Order: sequence, then C-alpha cells, then structure tokens
Amino acid sequence: VELEKELADLHQTESALLFTSCYVANEASISTMAKILPGMVIFSDQLNHASLIAGIRSSGCEKRVFRNNDVDHLHQLMKEYPKDRPKMVIFESVYSMEGNIGPIEKICDVADEHNALTFLDEVHAVGLYGQHGAGIAERDGVMDRLSIISGTLAKGYGVGGGYIASSSPIIDAVRSFAPGFIFTTSLNPPMAAAAKASVSYLKHNPQIREKHQERAATLKSRLASAGVPVMPSESHIVPVFVGDAALCKKISDELLNKHNIYVQPINYPTVPKGEERLRLTPTPFHTDEMMNHLVSSITSAFKEIGTTGMRSAYEHYMQKAAPTPARRA
Ligand SMILES: Cc1ncc(COP(=O)(O)O)c(C=O)c1O
Repeated sequence: VELEKELADLHQTESALLFTSCYVANEASISTMAKILPGMVIFSDQLNHASLIAGIRSSGCEKRVFRNNDVDHLHQLMKEYPKDRPKMVIFESVYSMEGNIGPIEKICDVADEHNALTFLDEVHAVGLYGQHGAGIAERDGVMDRLSIISGTLAKGYGVGGGYIASSSPIIDAVRSFAPGFIFTTSLNPPMAAAAKASVSYLKHNPQIREKHQERAATLKSRLASAGVPVMPSESHIVPVFVGDAALCKKISDELLNKHNIYVQPINYPTVPKGEERLRLTPTPFHTDEMMNHLVSSITSAFKEIGTTGMRSAYEHYMQKAAPTPARRA
C-alpha cells in the first residue's frame, strides 16, 4: 500500500495498483477494462509491446491498429465509430526497439474528440524522464490527460514488479475483477520496499536523469563518428543496424566472447526481417573509457564478421525511416 501511494503520488493520480510485473499489469488491466465496458473498441499502436497485445487479445474486443505514432491515421479510424461506443487508445511513450517517442498530447486530443479512454505504457520512461521520473507524460506536462498509465519497477527502477496508476474507480474495478491481480501471490515485502526506495530516490534526484541523457547522446555521437550504423533515436535507446539475423547473433557472440561486452541481438519477430539490430542502452554510470572500449569493440566485431551489403541495407533503412510522417509525428 505504501508503494502504491508512492506511485500514485509519482503520476499524480488518485490511486495505483501493483502487479507481479508490467507484463501482467498490461495484460490484466486491458482485458479487465474490456469486460467492464462491453462493446469497447481498442485502437492500438502498430509497435505496441507483446503484453499490450496479449491484453487486447484476451479482451476479445474489436481492435484497430494505427500506424506507429500516426495521429492522422488514428483519427481516421476513430471517425468510423459512433461517439457513444466505448473506446480505448493504447500506446507507449518510448518504443523500445526504435527508441522513438509517442506524441502523447496529440493522441490525447484525438482520443478526447472521440470520447475515448487512453492507456499509456511508460515502461521505458519511468525513472528516466520527467522532473520526478514519472516518464514522458510528466516531461511533456500531460500526465492528467491519460486515463491509465502503466509502468515497471524493473528496468529504470532496477527491482521488479509492475503497476497501473489511474483514478480510484478504475483502480477499484481492476482490483476487483482482474484475474492477473487476484489469482497470484502479490509482490513480496522486500521487493516492494526496495521499489519504494528506488522510486523515491529517483523522484528527488533529477541529476541522474540529466547524466543519463548526456551519456546516451555521447554514445550516439561516438558511434556515428566511428562510422557505426546507428539508427535514429530520440531517446536513451541506441539501436545499431545490422539487417541480418545470423550476422546480428554473430556480432553479439563476438562482442561477448572476445570483448567481454554483452549486447542483445534483436531479431524477428521483435523487429521486422531485414531490420535486425543490436540494441545498446547506456546507463548514467557508463564512463568514457567504457564507451571507448565499446565503440572499438563494435568496430572490430563488424570488421571481423564482414558486413558486405550491410551499408546499403542501412542506407535503404535510413531513407525509409527519415521522411515518413509516422516516424516524424
Ligand atoms: C513496452 C513494454 N511494456 C511492458 C513490458 C513488461 O514489463 P515487465 O518486465 O515489468 O514485465 C516490457 C518489457 O519488459 C516492455 O518493453
């Protein structure tokens, strides 16, 4: 209860509800909301995480998918439904594979126009963005525009567990009806205490977030200067283009075995075929020396493996990525 109060205070909501992970929080909350509001239509961003998709699937609701961050497309789809039909728009703030950021305010404007609830997954932003670490919605000054915010106590907070923050009636409804909340052991007291300490610490230490942004920007520019194919990203997530699943795994193995650096290979189905990548997530505590080691190791791993054809695939990706309204929005 103390942690839930800390989280409600973080997001400036009436209430919050803890789950064993944010996967469970997303799945359980979305499917339960749909049961409470029969006939609901769900509008889902194309790049939504598997946990959001699992919730949408088990809700059994009609679902429409809008292009990533494309507010006009969302508007077009919503226009097809009468105003009094229950609706919910489900999206993320930081998309973890692309590193791009959702236009929260514009999405809320469209949702309001169509009388829809909004569900925002801030998993890759809580602890990391906003004056108190409440995420991109806090950074953009739009926290009060969202019906439900979900977050994790892993990742930025370094512990484990997940939650939703919302109005008291919504939290009470999910608490009363969600099987993913009711039929499993709750987060244990040591984890809850650790998470509360972490949330509170990051709430009062914005300088760590500033350092984090500086470290991410430094890593991006160092990689680019060394000729490494960094993909465009507005956030702390630094994707490096490979464009081939086997090569991606090989480079990751080479980095681990020869250079003692663990970087995950991201392959299909997490990203589309032909857009395979390494995903780097620098922390505030990665030093210049560590970054030098990383950049020289990646450069030598790329050379060692031989990346013929990769450059042109990367250029093709960059051409496709840059001008589309979906990515610019
Ligand atoms: C966007 C997004 N939402 C939800 C989750 C699930 O969070 P948790 O690790 O707390 O289950 C993840 C990944 O872990 C994620 O990337």
